[in-house]
Amino acid sequence: MIFKTDILVIGSGIAGLRFAIEASQFAEVYIVTKKNRAESNTNYAQGGIASVLSKDDRAELHVTDTLNAGDGLCNREAVERIVNEGPSEIQKLIDIGMQFSKTSDGKLHLAKEGGHSKSRIAHAKDLTGREVEQALLKKISEIDNIHLFENHFAIDLITEHHLLSPYRTLSSKRHCWGAYVYDVEESTVHTFLAKCTLLSTGGLGQAYLHTTNPAIATGDGFAMAFRAGALIANMEFVQFHPTALFEEGFDNRSTTPSFLISEAVRGFGAKLKLKSGEEFMHNYDERGELAPRDIVARAIDNELKKRGDNFVYLDLTFKSMDEIVNHFPHIYSKCLEKNIDITKNYIPVIPAAHYACGGVVTDLNAQTSIENLFASGEVSMTGVHGANRLASNSLLEALVFSKYSAIDCKKILKESLSQIPDGIPEWVDTSEISTEEKVLISQSRREIREILWEYVGIVRSNERLNRALRRCHIIYEETKNMYNVTKLSEEILELRNLIDVAYLIAKSALIRKESRGLHFTFDYPNRDDQNWLKPTYMQNLNL
Ligand code: FAD
Ligand code: SIN
Repeated sequence: MIFKTDILVIGSGIAGLRFAIEASQFAEVYIVTKKNRAESNTNYAQGGIASVLSKDDRAELHVTDTLNAGDGLCNREAVERIVNEGPSEIQKLIDIGMQFSKTSDGKLHLAKEGGHSKSRIAHAKDLTGREVEQALLKKISEIDNIHLFENHFAIDLITEHHLLSPYRTLSSKRHCWGAYVYDVEESTVHTFLAKCTLLSTGGLGQAYLHTTNPAIATGDGFAMAFRAGALIANMEFVQFHPTALFEEGFDNRSTTPSFLISEAVRGFGAKLKLKSGEEFMHNYDERGELAPRDIVARAIDNELKKRGDNFVYLDLTFKSMDEIVNHFPHIYSKCLEKNIDITKNYIPVIPAAHYACGGVVTDLNAQTSIENLFASGEVSMTGVHGANRLASNSLLEALVFSKYSAIDCKKILKESLSQIPDGIPEWVDTSEISTEEKVLISQSRREIREILWEYVGIVRSNERLNRALRRCHIIYEETKNMYNVTKLSEEILELRNLIDVAYLIAKSALIRKESRGLHFTFDYPNRDDQNWLKPTYMQNLNL
């Protein structure tokens, strides 16, 4: 089938939904999302949304903290934009029904997290993401000109290279007119044509063996944008959250994420300890447990490797039971299900892949290098996070950049700057049914996740990265061949995206010949501002 609309949104997390609400004021909006509407990284966010909301805080301090965490690579203008817009975005969420935690005198309760010089994290206990997602979805359901398609998996963006001659233009400028979308329930591909498209497909944590990201986070947007020729940057800066719950008997075929123990737990005073009970963070940074994430994750990794241990502990037992249960009811009950009473027992934790700081390059209005294609949320590289994201800046960035991209779309539609050309072909399915490939697909997926975890993880080297690239190359060729003959399924589509993303991360990591922020390599252990105070760009020019 062919669907035609003003605006296509790919993804229904915070970025897609915030954008859709704004854009629905002047356009018809179609949202496609690959699972059920709430399934997203957003839904699992715990800590909250950073914003300057108290009298003893100032915008300049939030800007400085963000720039410090970003280790020289943030774009100050982008940072100022999210910081300045933060309070009004929080207010908008409250206006649509979001229930933030409050103090006894009715003010927003503001938590503290690593790298923040002030308490400035607005949150809904430790279930902030679920509250935000529900509030946004409720609002969407009340708007007539937003149509949401669940179980619709975007395969590829539609650009010039899909056009049949004689419609193909010779212009070097690329445009986006929507996407080919796989309808999972009907096993068929629809053509969604749109004057503007927002890519808001979230993260890529599932490219790693251990991740806090849910199964949807297979980097589809990064891969689609790269295949379409969009400019991509900073893919080497994958953030590892220092404290994911360690569980014995981990199944390396499972896509179930590691359960996150929020940074807010450390903000609340929890201490990291070795198996012997000894504290160690003060040996690495004077801010101790509240140093930025890259430092804490590397410190844990170093202690684990030095001792041959498989986890460290997080200790919260010195706090009162009431306080713990009141602040972290979700973490308390999830751990209790696994026989860990966090009011009495230390919590075993390890770092896990958590957030992609790099992505599809945008300007301050979330416009990508492809005309009429916008990117917002985790899939984008707006310049806010640089080499390391400051805790709880992600939800904020998504809100603000989605708002601005909608404003830009309005201009495009009002001035008729985007016209969908004739000659866009429908999807042609040339594949065969092939059942035995399923096992090949799941095996390749597992290999990718292991390769990235072992060779493109917290600590890297040229040898490890080259090995990763060689292995990825083989899987890439095998996947390409399989994709061409196998009947479409979510599994083959995700594998195709994961291998593209694995390549982008490993290749970018090899290009950057220094250590900065989240990228640490033994071969270049120091920061090199003279040569590397710049993003690492990647672009597919073979189109
Ligand atoms: P998502 O919320 O991931 O939404 C992406 C959407 O795109 C989903 O609906 C998905 O199904 C859909 N999709 C993906 N691929 C396709 C496709 N091919 N076709 C169609 N649809 C597709 N950040 C903070 O600022 N504060 C926090 O407290 C915080 N806590 C976190 C806790 C956890 C456990 C995790 C995993 C992340 C946390 N983060 C936090 C990061 C933050 O949640 C994410 O970066 C943010 O939610 C991303 O929002 P998004 O809208 O870009 O993507
Ligand atoms: C957390 O709660 O620790 C996650 C916060 C974030 O990723 O910003």
